[in-house]
Amino acid sequence: MKIPLSKPFLNQKELKAVKQVLNSSWLTHGPKNQEFEEIFAKYTGTKYAVSLNSCASALFAVIKALNITGEIILPSFTFVASANAIVTAGAKPIFADIDYQTSNIDPQDIKRKITKKTQAIMPVHFAGQVCQMDEIMKIAKKHNLWVIEDSAEAIGAEYHGKKAGSFGIGCFSFFPTKNITTGEGGMITANDKDLIQKIKTLMGHGIPKMTNQRLKAKKPWYRAATIAGYNFRMSNILAALGVEQMKKLNQMNTLRRKHAAYLNQKLKKIKEIELPVEMPKTKHVYQMYTIKLKKGNRDDLVRKLKAKGIEVSVHFDPPVHLQPYYKNKQKLPETEKLSRSIITLPMYPQMTKKELDYIINNIKEILKL
Ligand SMILES: Cc1ncc(COP(=O)(O)O)c(C=O)c1O
Repeated sequence: MKIPLSKPFLNQKELKAVKQVLNSSWLTHGPKNQEFEEIFAKYTGTKYAVSLNSCASALFAVIKALNITGEIILPSFTFVASANAIVTAGAKPIFADIDYQTSNIDPQDIKRKITKKTQAIMPVHFAGQVCQMDEIMKIAKKHNLWVIEDSAEAIGAEYHGKKAGSFGIGCFSFFPTKNITTGEGGMITANDKDLIQKIKTLMGHGIPKMTNQRLKAKKPWYRAATIAGYNFRMSNILAALGVEQMKKLNQMNTLRRKHAAYLNQKLKKIKEIELPVEMPKTKHVYQMYTIKLKKGNRDDLVRKLKAKGIEVSVHFDPPVHLQPYYKNKQKLPETEKLSRSIITLPMYPQMTKKELDYIINNIKEILKL
């Protein structure tokens, strides 16, 4: 049996929506983006949302728009894009350790890492579970810091009844492994109108109004840049995909949670492994289902499962602070321990019981139970 790590959940509805946009001839940023943004803002409980070409661009644009050039505290246990956005935007990443149980940033270590140069905290909601946002927002308020939530892995996840990306400024990814996909894509959520306008200007060549917004102007050809900007736009074609995916998001997350519950129930008897934990009053959306190997050789288990056709992976090894560009002498013991023990099992909405049982039985067999 072959089981991929993830699989997009697409059908005729997406095909039809894309075809309609192709037939309309409006391919660049346009009406579907507006529709997607309105649906997304409403869903996350924020006033505004802006669609762009990736989460990496979203993080970069937010840091640029906020004029942050000082320090930003984030976990090292994340995809390198989180830290890259900080560096490329001209700020400095400062890595905090994580809480081993949840794999999320440890608020106590955030406190230890704050200096006079700190301007923001970038919590990363790992694998579909929101960080301890009450604690993080308290720290941010006390020290007057921005909060940029890297919510790439947490579309629809909740903490104390609030959605990921609605505590600070949210940045999301629509890469094919994420909870919804547009192939490539991203979204920013925020409540500050001026910030949103600045981001829109930055991401559209420094011109405050996009082509479709200028159509009814007296002089629609008049394109006046107010800053030297970038092109981070998402096309109307991909936005049409996003609109269809949003209609299925709750269904897809419910299925992910159902598969996770089944895996938890069947794997809990294996004493060699530690299961993912859903914290009280949170809703984990299992963008990834990760286990930790308590003893034995993690790499060996990964290779053996792969040999059985199960596309397991590791997120994240090495952690960012041990990658060649970022390498420094900083010690993050919990992060390093987690990097050595974690395994990502396949997870996608349309998984079958047969596939789940195949994964469970192979883990048992390899661990000789
Ligand atoms: C935590 C995190 N941040 C940022 C990104 C980057 O997302 P994108 O590929 O949309 O730029 C990812 C994607 O894998 C991610 O997992």
